[in-house]
Amino acid sequence: MAKHTAVGWGHHHYHHLQNRWLLALLLMLSVSTVIAFFMRSAFDSCDRTVSAAVDGIGSARHVIQVAEKRTTPVAAVKPSPLSFMKSKVVLLVSHELSLSGGPLLLMELAFLLRSVGAEVYWMTIMKPSETDEVTYSLEHKMLDRGVQVVSAKGKEALDTALRADLVVLNTAVAGKWLDVVLKGDVHRVLPKVLWWIHEMRGHYFKLDYVKHLPFVAGAMIDSHVTTEYWKNRTQERLKIKMPDTYVVHLGNSKELMQVAEDTVAKRVLREHVRESLGVLNEDLLFAIINSVSRGKGQDLFLRSFYEALQLIKEKKMQIPLLHAVIVGSDMSAQTKFEMELRDSVVQKKIQDRVHFVNKTLTVAPYLAAIDVLVQNSQARGECFGRITIEAMAFQLPVLGTAAGGTTEIVVNGTTGLLHPVGKPGVTPLAKNIVKLATHVERRLTMGKRGYERVKERFLEQHMAERIAGVLKEVLRKSKNKSSRLIS
Ligand SMILES: *[C@@H]1O[C@H](CO)[C@@H](O)[C@H](O)[C@H]1NC(C)=O
Ligand SMILES: *[C@@H]1O[C@H](CO)[C@@H](O)[C@H](O)[C@H]1NC(C)=O
Ligand SMILES: *[C@@H]1O[C@H](CO)[C@@H](O)[C@H](O)[C@H]1NC(C)=O
Ligand SMILES: *[C@@H]1O[C@H](CO)[C@@H](O)[C@H](O)[C@H]1NC(C)=O
Repeated sequence: MAKHTAVGWGHHHYHHLQNRWLLALLLMLSVSTVIAFFMRSAFDSCDRTVSAAVDGIGSARHVIQVAEKRTTPVAAVKPSPLSFMKSKVVLLVSHELSLSGGPLLLMELAFLLRSVGAEVYWMTIMKPSETDEVTYSLEHKMLDRGVQVVSAKGKEALDTALRADLVVLNTAVAGKWLDVVLKGDVHRVLPKVLWWIHEMRGHYFKLDYVKHLPFVAGAMIDSHVTTEYWKNRTQERLKIKMPDTYVVHLGNSKELMQVAEDTVAKRVLREHVRESLGVLNEDLLFAIINSVSRGKGQDLFLRSFYEALQLIKEKKMQIPLLHAVIVGSDMSAQTKFEMELRDSVVQKKIQDRVHFVNKTLTVAPYLAAIDVLVQNSQARGECFGRITIEAMAFQLPVLGTAAGGTTEIVVNGTTGLLHPVGKPGVTPLAKNIVKLATHVERRLTMGKRGYERVKERFLEQHMAERIAGVLKEVLRKSKNKSSRLIS
């Protein structure tokens, strides 16, 4: 396959491009099968339902590592902002181990800490009774990189927690672990706990989960709006006070940036995906990439899309064909929502313009193939919405709801356009769709500005710097507290 694709490029080109092709091919292969876990850091950090069957994670990683080795010149590496964590003992406690947002993010932290020589332990609270393939692959991925996977229960768990310099508790639901496992020793551990919260739903505001929150060293939350929401809810509903809380915006992985900045790989992926959807190169693709559910607003987006088509027809605009792509479909789940969504498409007779794509962890090919990302999350919006910064890395403008983390990522009018949540947003979004479809220059400029914004503040190194600031603070505080406890 590699040879076939490379034939047209001539020898000298081929030589220059072969590393890139390796990466591109890997991605192409993973368009239909769910692999290349590494490529995928695009998950919504608030959404714990996105998960998928994995197949060959290990081999995908292997190929990518080979590709990395061949493409990365041996250059001086900038010292990590986390290097002060060298030899520190860090315990990471995850509610679960799956391919959903929370655990994957915590794993990224595990690897960042490993790369600076920290001693890292991992515990999974909710383990499936039978080892499934996902858990197995992820655990081995961690073991390969020197993360020590230990039981979340019993004496070993307690001893590790007591010995650690820092304990990172991931997501609100992990709070129950504190009492169940640490029991009487919980107060010895709380001063060194950093609680990383990614949720923004009402049912997490239960004392059962968060009663220890006021006593931990700090909380780390993905966006300002979510932080405000937590401060408000804990106070109003539970009458408890948040500890020192730090906002840490997420960043794009190096692997994603590598694909986003490789024009050849992007072109190959774009052609491949468009061909598979039956879409021409000049057609315009507007996509939502999120699990299909009411909260993510695919229904309202399709209404806007339909309105946009009507508008274009009425005004007899001469523009390329518009298509909507819904990435995140799951027909096996048979949800009422998805059935309604598909029915509405048939009723409106826009089947040839709306494409449903199965849930996937590999978003890079779709980001390479589309022209505009739509982030239509409803109600309080996304906690952060990592897909937004990933799309911006691919120089895509974003049409987003004016809610949640989206408002902290998208600069309205510069890197995208915001519309209100709910039904009041349907017509504004339709107009924004038409606007970007008709103003080519503006669309491309917005994409470029988005990319610049990502380079300025939404890269892995930025996230590492932000996390480093928090960890320093938390370590300092927990030291102070424990020395006072002793004295
Ligand atoms: C929380 O939000 C509600 C409504 O949004 C507001 O009325 C209230 O003043 C807020 N409380 C705090 C403590 O910020
Ligand atoms: C998408 O998922 C459905 C079932 O959930 C399956 O039947 C179908 O083959 C999948 N399509 C692709 C392209 O993988
Ligand atoms: C976004 O900007 C447009 C004008 O460019 C404005 O009409 C709209 O109200 C703004 N929306 C928000 C949420 O700021
Ligand atoms: C240690 O804690 C005390 C009491 O809370 C506080 O006054 C002091 O500033 C703290 N020192 C450091 C270095 O944080």
